Amino acid sequence: MATSKGKNETVTLIDNISGKRVDLPVLNGTIGPKVIDIRRLYAETGFFTYDPGYTATGSTESRITYIDGDKGVLLHRGYAIEDLAEKSDFMEVCYLLLKGELPTKEQKTRFEHDISRHTMVHEQLNFFFRGFRRDAHPMAIMCGVVGALSAFYHDSTDITDPRQRMIASYRLVAKMPTIAAMAYKYSIGQPFMYPRNDLKFAENFLYMMFGVPCEEYKVNPVLAKAMDRIFILHADHEQNASTSTVRMAGSTGANPFACIAAGIASLWGPAHGGANEAVLKMLGEIGDKKHIKAYLARVKDKKDGTMLMGFGHRVYKNYDPRAKVMQKTCYEVLDALKIKNEPLLDLAMELEQIALNDNYFVDRKLYPNVDFYSGIILKAMGFPTSMFTVLFAVARTVGWISQWSELIDDKEQKIGRPRQLYTGAEPRKFVPISKRT
Ligand code: ACO
Repeated sequence: MATSKGKNETVTLIDNISGKRVDLPVLNGTIGPKVIDIRRLYAETGFFTYDPGYTATGSTESRITYIDGDKGVLLHRGYAIEDLAEKSDFMEVCYLLLKGELPTKEQKTRFEHDISRHTMVHEQLNFFFRGFRRDAHPMAIMCGVVGALSAFYHDSTDITDPRQRMIASYRLVAKMPTIAAMAYKYSIGQPFMYPRNDLKFAENFLYMMFGVPCEEYKVNPVLAKAMDRIFILHADHEQNASTSTVRMAGSTGANPFACIAAGIASLWGPAHGGANEAVLKMLGEIGDKKHIKAYLARVKDKKDGTMLMGFGHRVYKNYDPRAKVMQKTCYEVLDALKIKNEPLLDLAMELEQIALNDNYFVDRKLYPNVDFYSGIILKAMGFPTSMFTVLFAVARTVGWISQWSELIDDKEQKIGRPRQLYTGAEPRKFVPISKRT
């Protein structure tokens, strides 16, 4: 991948003590802030940079997703998320993320066919599930089973072969819903449902989740559409924690199944994909509109350590565009399910309004993120809270694997290896145990 350079623009860094100067090149992306290329910094000055949490560090060049956090813009390959959510479907978005362009009609038909032919998992994997406790968190199962795919699909783990990489990508996108539904079925003691290739991606997932072998299960089309949209909204999100984890693992040459398992582990945390589960727990804890003010007082009291879950984002300092679409989808789902009054939605909306008018949140530019409303929809659709983050992982797999493929094709990629500011003990003499006091 060629790095786009500015018109010889540089930034000069001067060490005020030694007076040494270094000119650092400035790189321009297609859109977005300029970037200072610090790759020669240590060699030329002896300095590292310090940026815990990578708040100001670009870890890679990428052509997949663009976010303008101040304006609340999210683009995949240049297309606005609102347009994709409204006018496209998840398979099309998968194609777009993986291949860079929206598919033609023929390309889409072919892609859907190919993905559907990879939905089954190796039969031996069924037995693998039995090693888990029935009450295991499904994300724990996902980490284990997805990692184990590399033990089953040896013919798509050679990362130097583009064809094997493509097959691994298709396998991961196609098998994630199957594995996710199996994790759920295992937890409730129902038989696994084999995928049905005559159904669309989201439809098939709902069928595997909620169908049983002893009777016909008709998927509600409004719910299938909502599920598809939720998948679109979670499909990719630039260099977030789990994607960076996938890239970091991929930079060592690890196989794609292992890399995606690493991404799943990273997604699980409540500061990231685990937030949708945490939002519902929080709403349950607040319980009633009359307790909102007291809850927000706890949030604002830093000593308490309580966060307003589903609020705030490292990049968005404006309304997360996905949250707006999610809120609209929430109404559609409740309407389709003929749920007239959903106290959790009322509570969430009131909480949002109070927070958006509170100086604490205004000053810090904290807005609802994608997870604020997703839990309410998923609960209404019948998903247990423990499955929320699993659904996120199902959707994000295409983003992870697209970013992984980009990394493998990137000629400038090196093993990911940050440095540190060491603040531990200085060199000292080893003291034998008999002489230690
Ligand atoms: N509730 C209360 N205060 C918050 C919140 C929140 N949800 N989010 C940020 N803040 C405060 C911080 O305490 C900090 O305050 P200070 O300046 O007084 O110290 C300020 O806002 C800036 O926040 P940072 O912690 O610097 O923001 P950061 O970018 O590191 O964190 C994060 C972003 C992790 C998403 C954070 O906002 C958070 O934990 N939110 C709740 C969890 C959540 O919803 N996560 C989902 C994110 S979206 C996704 O992954 C799908």
